[in-house]
Order: sequence, then C-alpha cells, then structure tokens
Amino acid sequence: MASLHELADGGALFWSQGEGKQTFRLIVLRSGDDVFGYVNRCAHFGVPLAEKVEQLIFKPSQSLSCNVHYARYGWRDGSCQDGECDGEGLLLVPLEARDDAVVISAPQ
Ligand code: FES
Repeated sequence: MASLHELADGGALFWSQGEGKQTFRLIVLRSGDDVFGYVNRCAHFGVPLAEKVEQLIFKPSQSLSCNVHYARYGWRDGSCQDGECDGEGLLLVPLEARDDAVVISAPQ
C-alpha cells in the first residue's frame, strides 16, 4: 500500500485502488510510528475531503478538514470535531506499520 518512509511524521498521503466510480480512496496519516487510515469521504455530503493530497487541509497530528464546507475531524479517530458532521465521523480503516510497510491491520 505505502511505505512508512514515504510519509513524513505528521503528514498525509492519498492511496487509491480501482478506477472511476469503483475507486477506493484512502487517506493515510502518520504520527510517529502510528498510522491512521480513513476513507476519503466526508460524512456531510459523501464527497472526498480533497481530490489531491496537496489540497488536503490538516493540522499535523491533530485534525483534518473537508475542503468543501470545512467539517473538521480528529486525526487519531476520525470523529467529528467541528462543522457539518455532528455525531458522525470518517470511516476508519485500521492500519499498522510493519517494518517499513503500511498495511491494513488484521482484526483482533
Ligand atoms: S461536504 Fe464536507 S463539510 Fe460539507
């Protein structure tokens, strides 16, 4: 999926698989050795938070925001912190770093 060294501490990258409407879009965030994954889909209107990682609004290791109406979500749990997402959140995809590889975590 991604390499940990590709992702700066406090940084974000986008990862996608598939094409067109079938594309699975994931936002990968890093804080130290911890990685967090969220489906790139705002809880408000179901659109991507941003189309490109360069457009993603975030405070490193704190929060990320949708660039449509600026709903703000927590970095570590994707929960709504402010804006048009009250009581909702981003869809979490559990990730972990194994050596240098970022992979989807197996259920525990
Ligand atoms: S679509 Fe994301 S805050 Fe409205």
